Amino acid sequence: MAENPWVLSYDGFDPAGESLREALCTLGNGYFATRGAAEESEADEVHYPGTYLAGGYNRRVTDLSGRSIENEDLVNLPNWLPLSFRPEGGDWLNLRRMGILDYRQRLDLKRGVLERHLRVTDGAGHVTALAFRRIVHMRHPNLAAIEMRITPETWSGRVEVASALDGRVINAGVERYRELNSKHLAPLEAREAEEPDTMLLVAETNQSHIRIAQAARTRVYRDGAEPAVERVTDVEDDHVAQTLTLELQRGETLSVEKTVALFTSRDRGISEPAQAALRATREAGRFEDLLATHVQAWQLLWDRGDIVVDRHPRTQMILRLHVFHLLQTVSPNTIDQDAGVPARGLHGEAYRGHIFWDELFILPYLDFHFPEIARSLLLYRYRRLPDARRLAREAGLAGAKFPWQSGSSGREESQVLHLNPRSGRWTPDNSHIQRHVGAAIALNVWRYWQSTCDRDFLGQYGAEMLIEIARFWASLAKWNDATGRYDIRGVMGPDEFHDAYPWSDVPGLDNNAYTNVLAAWVLRRAGEVLGHVEPVRRKELERLLALEPEEVAGWGRIAGKLTLPFIDGGIIAQFEGYDRLEELDWDGYRAKYGDIHRLDRILEAEGDSVNRYKASKQADVLMLFYLFSSAELRDLITGMGYDFDPQVIPRTVDYYLARTSHGSTLSRVVHSWVLARSDRARSWELLKGALESDISDIQGGTTAEGIHLGAMAGTVDLVQRGQTGLEFYDDTLALSPCLPQELQGLHLGLMHRGHWLRLDISCDEVRVAVPVGWPGPHRIRVRNEVHDLAAGEELRFPCQLHGGGWRPAPEASPPDTAVTTEPERGKRSAGGTPTGSS
Ligand code: BGC
Repeated sequence: MAENPWVLSYDGFDPAGESLREALCTLGNGYFATRGAAEESEADEVHYPGTYLAGGYNRRVTDLSGRSIENEDLVNLPNWLPLSFRPEGGDWLNLRRMGILDYRQRLDLKRGVLERHLRVTDGAGHVTALAFRRIVHMRHPNLAAIEMRITPETWSGRVEVASALDGRVINAGVERYRELNSKHLAPLEAREAEEPDTMLLVAETNQSHIRIAQAARTRVYRDGAEPAVERVTDVEDDHVAQTLTLELQRGETLSVEKTVALFTSRDRGISEPAQAALRATREAGRFEDLLATHVQAWQLLWDRGDIVVDRHPRTQMILRLHVFHLLQTVSPNTIDQDAGVPARGLHGEAYRGHIFWDELFILPYLDFHFPEIARSLLLYRYRRLPDARRLAREAGLAGAKFPWQSGSSGREESQVLHLNPRSGRWTPDNSHIQRHVGAAIALNVWRYWQSTCDRDFLGQYGAEMLIEIARFWASLAKWNDATGRYDIRGVMGPDEFHDAYPWSDVPGLDNNAYTNVLAAWVLRRAGEVLGHVEPVRRKELERLLALEPEEVAGWGRIAGKLTLPFIDGGIIAQFEGYDRLEELDWDGYRAKYGDIHRLDRILEAEGDSVNRYKASKQADVLMLFYLFSSAELRDLITGMGYDFDPQVIPRTVDYYLARTSHGSTLSRVVHSWVLARSDRARSWELLKGALESDISDIQGGTTAEGIHLGAMAGTVDLVQRGQTGLEFYDDTLALSPCLPQELQGLHLGLMHRGHWLRLDISCDEVRVAVPVGWPGPHRIRVRNEVHDLAAGEELRFPCQLHGGGWRPAPEASPPDTAVTTEPERGKRSAGGTPTGSS
């Protein structure tokens, strides 16, 4: 693969790898996205041209194993891509039936353009060169366009061009869901428009009644002019196609431009979708005009969102690919769409487009570059607070219980049965008992508030969410007379391999450490949140939520007495009873199966259960070190009434890392983060694995069904915050850069409380440019040195990078523990005054 840091490129056509390319070459704009399937392809064993609308869900019922099961899917919308050609009477373009003389595909990340260049020879021996360009417009979210350039190299004659809108599609992108009812669209209208070069297709989802209109205008150009063409339109209920025929001479190039508008009944500012789509295609300019405004929109996004790493083009390209796909899933166009961020992007049908706790890995990047998008994703959650209250009520609990998987309405969308493709058995899926998702939402609210100081958000929405989530935890925690503590029973932590005790028939585990610490965090934050809200609003909220001081005091009492289980030597246990599980023969399983990341499926197929073993799919206890600094964690854990010595962190990391299969792509992100300071080489290996998760499809087939957005955004955040050691606390901005040896420098802008801070980290210095009007923090700590941070200044801190990484200045003590240690507050460095150059 070429190492242009702005381009993902492929040479040659590879049927076996095509579905992966399609996912990775998806184009989207935060409103809708379309997989990078070839224009001339149809859904078959090689291709899957899917188009998905942000928030475009529909429910269907299936009878399965004697049960009626309702699933909500992100609907595959009518395919707007079809565009093909043939010499009149010859073969339509088909990569599997033609000779391919040349084939190159490029995804231009900077400009958001997907290109294909190919030369083919058909059955009659005609050689034709083709060049495709495609955009999904970033500025005009309802528009997309394709340009196909046809050059007959060895022949002259009549050529036929076919262009279509295909509403016959179903959701068939994920093999294991094939037994489920997947027909979501009902046709409404298919016809030629008043303008004969335009077609219209209207369909409606058959349960949620989202009406979708697509209009496509197809024009041809030769030497800049529109030649005369014969045009025939074929109409079926759910399909409309046009065939254009004209004469073409050998060596001439014909440009075909297909401009598509997609509107739905969820859009604002329109009368109805069909009319809006027809108007948009009528008014759209030529491909080059659309391209210019599209590229400009991307440039603005990159100006805010790019992260530059020195001298590692592959890492650079992958980080950009990750930012690119994040911004194609959620962008400024998502704001006001009432859409959340699906774990698998808008890139495929895995997990049915549902929204999980993965936001926890995604929002930090957005907080620092596109806080208005982060806000809009939090509002997606706020609008579902009534449903979360209902879920809590139905479970006999108070407050708000957010669903593990969320879709259209905020009800629980987790599946109840799960197919193990290895054994062919449907087994119960208990993942919905991952109550920790609510804590992740609370943390996201708090981080957004910390990073933006958006008091309006906190007062109108954020504080209410935090309080309701705290109420949920307070009602779930039960007093245990025997231990004199509160227990949280019957839950799952992030590690999805453990959903029950092997000695019990009932799903759920007790006192999952991650859940309990997070619950304590929520209860404490909820107790203080109203102190940050404007006083009049504070009073309003107290009345609206009937919040009394005794209730808040009760949260403090529970937070101070939640149970935290430990195993040998002070290591936090994943849950109560973890020490009774058996050790797995890791080497034996690796030798037997090679790839064991889905140990759960392997063991179930063997008639065993992963619940019996000390084996994790992903970080669970270690999530605590990922989310909190050691100082914060010590504060939280001592606040729960336990001793916590940060010296135990490295042993804890080793303990769980040795027992983790990384069956979730999130896992390597977390492990790399927690090792960033203590074991740079291992951290880099894990980061490399996380970077390769999707581009190399390291799980062997999952990326084709949708990218892993949590891991994608998580890697970018790992470089942005993890490796810079970036933290804001009290009135201090802390930096403790610790790049892997392979990355020689890092350059990025970060928005904090509405102001852009610029960071340039190179081999021998850290440079921080503070904008005019900077509201604070007013101090900066680089490693262990503290300095003033004033608006309008550029500060330079000399540092040395020797072989393995940063060497602290001689007078500073090395803070290379697993996570950052508590800073020495207020200490001024003896030497090293920053070189001010404002
Ligand atoms: C992981 C979860 C994650 C989900 C969606 C699962 O494989 O175990 O933590 O939320 O994928 O990405």
